[in-house]
Amino acid sequence: MPTPIAAAQEALRQERREASYPEPYPTGWYVVVLAKELDRAARRGKPLAVELFGERLVAFRDAAGRARVLDAYCPHLGADLSGGRVCEGQLECPFHRWRFDGEGCLAEVPYLAERRKLPTIRAGAHAVLERDGLILLWRGPGEPDYDIPAVPAGMVHRGDHDAGVVRMHLQEFAENSVDFQHFAPLHGQMRLPWLGLPIPGVTIRHQARWEPDEERSWIARFHDSAMLRFRGKDLPWSAAEATITFHGPGSVVHFRFQIPEVGEILMIQSHAPLAPLAQHVRFRWFADRSIPRLLVSYVVGNWISQWREDIAIWENKIFRERPQLVRDDGPIHALRKWYRQFQG
Ligand code: FES
Ligand SMILES: [Fe+2]
Repeated sequence: MPTPIAAAQEALRQERREASYPEPYPTGWYVVVLAKELDRAARRGKPLAVELFGERLVAFRDAAGRARVLDAYCPHLGADLSGGRVCEGQLECPFHRWRFDGEGCLAEVPYLAERRKLPTIRAGAHAVLERDGLILLWRGPGEPDYDIPAVPAGMVHRGDHDAGVVRMHLQEFAENSVDFQHFAPLHGQMRLPWLGLPIPGVTIRHQARWEPDEERSWIARFHDSAMLRFRGKDLPWSAAEATITFHGPGSVVHFRFQIPEVGEILMIQSHAPLAPLAQHVRFRWFADRSIPRLLVSYVVGNWISQWREDIAIWENKIFRERPQLVRDDGPIHALRKWYRQFQG
């Protein structure tokens, strides 16, 4: 247990970190839950509670099986709707048993005399998209103005990894890809996939490029060519290409790993902010059926082990609005300019 003074100092440190950052919830699609989690709850006639953007939300499936997300606190007297149940596709509040439909409209008040008209009352409702086993929610002003593409037909689901909560700001993940000069110090050591143990003598050389899509402003791509080196010598057989596509502000990112003459792996990494400095990070991956599962697990595990190397930095840094850069730093200003489209 930290002493009271240490706890107070830590709280102040976190407050200062948070104050240094721009807005925490940029416009875009965010993963709320996995579809299979929602299905499990639906089979028991229950909704699911979700913490996102410092708010409490509730997810359920309506009578047609569509995923729905409403604000969790009942417009009546504020009970938590996620403690209720789902009846014929409507969400029933546990307090006075009002029912709401998938749009959040009040559909029934059990004790209201029959001749009384149901008042127009709504629980806040959110735009929802279901893609490849993920339930996504739109955050931002107005209607969704871009889409998340589906995984190409022919690829099969090969795994999920829930990395829990990382105490970082969402923008850091986006900035990481253009910060070319951190690849050698943080990602230069080859590690055992999943375990993260360093492999002596084996290093990785990265060559990176970043560019926004010319037509679709919400898309940006980061290309990484990586090669293993043993005791300082290139191992050309190990050359690997990855294309990392941001669909929005870093909340949903598609990694495509091309393995020459074998096939392709697509990994989705998602960040869902519970609070300004608390990202729930999930990985979900798909691959051509022809790629051996072990190889898929190796490639994905390798990425995840490398991603973990950044966490200690992310969880302790502040945001520099005016960073002092030198010539060979990556296109950090260009990234920030691109990123501003998602900020109000
Ligand atoms: S608080 Fe929800 S029905 Fe009364
Ligand atoms: Fe990194």
